[in-house]
Amino acid sequence: MSETPIDEVAAGDLEALHERLEREAGEVSDRAGWEALRLAWLGRKRGRLKALMGRMKEIPPAERRAYGQAVNRLKQAVEARLEALAAALEDEAAAAARPALDVTLPGRRPRLGALHPVTRVSRAVEAIFTELGYSVAEGPEIEDEEHNFTLLNMPPGHPARDTQDTLFLDGGLLLRTHTSPVQIRTMRARIEQQGGGPPIRVICPGRVYRNDNDLRHSPMFHQVEGLAVAEGITLGDLKGTLEAFVKRLFRPDTGVRLRPSYFPFTEPSAEVDITCPFCAGSGEIDGAAACGTCSATGWIEILGSGMVDPRVLAACGVDPSRYSGFAFGLGLDRVAMIRYGIPNIRLLFDNDERLLRQVRG
Ligand code: PHE
Repeated sequence: MSETPIDEVAAGDLEALHERLEREAGEVSDRAGWEALRLAWLGRKRGRLKALMGRMKEIPPAERRAYGQAVNRLKQAVEARLEALAAALEDEAAAAARPALDVTLPGRRPRLGALHPVTRVSRAVEAIFTELGYSVAEGPEIEDEEHNFTLLNMPPGHPARDTQDTLFLDGGLLLRTHTSPVQIRTMRARIEQQGGGPPIRVICPGRVYRNDNDLRHSPMFHQVEGLAVAEGITLGDLKGTLEAFVKRLFRPDTGVRLRPSYFPFTEPSAEVDITCPFCAGSGEIDGAAACGTCSATGWIEILGSGMVDPRVLAACGVDPSRYSGFAFGLGLDRVAMIRYGIPNIRLLFDNDERLLRQVRG
């Protein structure tokens, strides 16, 4: 960078020197260029600012004050520009020293999705019953009263309808309260098929709706119901099937207990308890603390079941003097809560990613 003759500076407008500073700073690309720029402007002996200061005595006294201020502004601008330039050069040097690929950085884990706990349980149940020779059937979530209630031995005005209150739509339609209507639809469809009818083995998973809402109940929940109809089916077949099922779903030493109960569409009916999978039926954890999952009773209720009422078979065109059958239903949300230790059913429907991550394990 050539030294500017003092005359030239003297002739120039001080403001124009700011532009010159910018232009010269823009051409600097390394440390040596920076040093040359510094010397040209701030050099103690021959720097431009030194020369400008030296001119002070030539300035008419009335203009000296303004002149001095202008020179000072220029000096501050030069210093600030040099400082910024130095920082930029340092950043560039640091970037150049860094390797393009840093193999010591931790890898980025891809964020994988996970199946919902209810989906997992549903698939597990389907897999077990498929192996037992059952097929899977689905039906509409908006049902008519006929399929949801009447054909299941709950005619209009039947008190059992109250225990399955739901949302009613116009035209005798409602949000189904269980997947039993899919069993009705399946039996009727099979009877209509050429050479159809029993034996029938089917499970019906799906969403169902009820006017229930507390820690364990949600207005929408998930069920799987099962149905087997053939000649000579007995309560023993029901118990044996459910035993095989829960031993696979929970643990091989799971015990089963049938308690007499009532459903309008089965006779006799039973509620099914299993030994608690956490305390193995003892009611205690580590021989001391009361088991929270089964409230220290050792048993958990998980299924409703029974022998299909002959009236239900007849309503579907199946001859009850020749055929018999069993049916059962279980809540998938409840099984998911037991299996994964989820205390509140709402957690299943909050869509909080953390739940999926925990359950995935
Ligand atoms: N449909 C019954 C319910 O949702 C469950 C059930 C199915 C009970 C089959 C007995 C037999 O409550």
